[in-house]
Amino acid sequence: MVEAERMRVSVIGTGYLGATTAACLAEMGFEVLGVDVDEAKVDMLRQGRLPFFEPGLDELLSENLPTGRLRFTTSFAEAAEFADLHLICVGTPQMDDSGAADLSYVNSAVDQLAPHLTRPSVVVGRSTVPVGTAATLAARLASLAPVGDEAELGWSPEFLREGFGVEDTLHPNRIVIGTDSPRVEKAVRALWQQQIDEGVPFLVTDLQTAELVKVSANAFLATKISFINAMAEVSEVAGADVIKLAEALSHDDRIGGKFLGPGLGFGGGCLPKDIRAFMARADELGVEPALSFLREVDAINQRRRARTIDIARQLIGGNFAGRTVAVLGAAFKPNSDDIRDSPALAVASTIASLGAHVTVYDPQAMDRAREEHPQLNYAPTLRDAAAGADVVLLLTEWAEFKEANPENLAEVVAQRKMVDGRNALDPTYWRSSGWTYRALGRQ
Ligand code: UDX
Repeated sequence: MVEAERMRVSVIGTGYLGATTAACLAEMGFEVLGVDVDEAKVDMLRQGRLPFFEPGLDELLSENLPTGRLRFTTSFAEAAEFADLHLICVGTPQMDDSGAADLSYVNSAVDQLAPHLTRPSVVVGRSTVPVGTAATLAARLASLAPVGDEAELGWSPEFLREGFGVEDTLHPNRIVIGTDSPRVEKAVRALWQQQIDEGVPFLVTDLQTAELVKVSANAFLATKISFINAMAEVSEVAGADVIKLAEALSHDDRIGGKFLGPGLGFGGGCLPKDIRAFMARADELGVEPALSFLREVDAINQRRRARTIDIARQLIGGNFAGRTVAVLGAAFKPNSDDIRDSPALAVASTIASLGAHVTVYDPQAMDRAREEHPQLNYAPTLRDAAAGADVVLLLTEWAEFKEANPENLAEVVAQRKMVDGRNALDPTYWRSSGWTYRALGRQ
């Protein structure tokens, strides 16, 4: 801990990844300076307020700010003066006109930091980038830094899941660092010494392998979800039950049960854009066929949204026009207020565009949803959202929805019709309360 207390780290980018990383490192005993170009965000964080919802993170922020171990700034000069280790945690969203990753924030982080590096420094990227990016950035860093190639760059991808960001940062399942520099490796080892001592695997690779670990992990997870969703498509027409099927598959420990949950499919700021950026990069590298299966993974995922809408349409007699529809869930998954590529909002807005009166309720993501989809209606509670509904769709599996009482809800709806887009409810229980229950991949 004494060693850790001496180490000073700057964390560039204070979005989901950066703010979580900064607060967790402060909690671990490091002196941390979070850097962002967005003054409003930096002001909020200085006041102990998070610009997004993440369980457990607000406590870490408010506990560590008063200790002085965690501070925030907009000044790259201050960051360079303060720390010898800089972590790049900015976003790499999908570009509007193609599936490729937008690297402008990563490039700009290096461009803004480098001119201030007047003593030997280590810069480590944590953002998800296309393979080959880090080597280019390493050269750019050395060419822009006054200290030249004594400013060294490594790449150490993160694997945190939203909703579990604190847990996944403090107790990662592996630490990967791509570098051939002993100094970079030493700095990253020092950063995660507590975790390494606890037995967390520490893997040193070249830059390209480290970049690939992240995108291939997300490609694998997306493929696993789409695999079981493809089985759901087959199950529906073949008269099988995909939930029982998934359960039976999961007992084979070569397959395992995680990420084998059939339903509306994946969304969020990572899996969808990461598989598209991966395909775009494979194309550039001339190995497009190697990843063409990911196109199918994406297509299966999109079809789940269309199928969910079809099931709801069938339930209400074939036409949404003038009907009242309740949508439970706006976030792309529970325990998050993130609505990026949210399957729930994609379904809700399509149904609204088909003429239905759609009312959405989500325990955390209402403000963000309202901003992006002002054409939808929003209710303050689950019960209010369901009032007068001809059909209710459960599209994000929040605990509140899983625990909903079918008898109570029946009192307010116009018709007892439930589309369970996440296979989150017990069909027998709901049917026994007089509901027509439909789900993806089941009879
Ligand atoms: C993902 C990776 O898990 C994480 O390692 C990486 O760092 C970032 O991307 P995240 O986007 O937070 O994390 O969400 P995740 O928990 O992976 O879920 C992604 C999507 O898949 C969600 O929309 C979720 O609802 C869906 N999902 C997940 C399924 O549809 N079925 C499953 O069985 C699991």
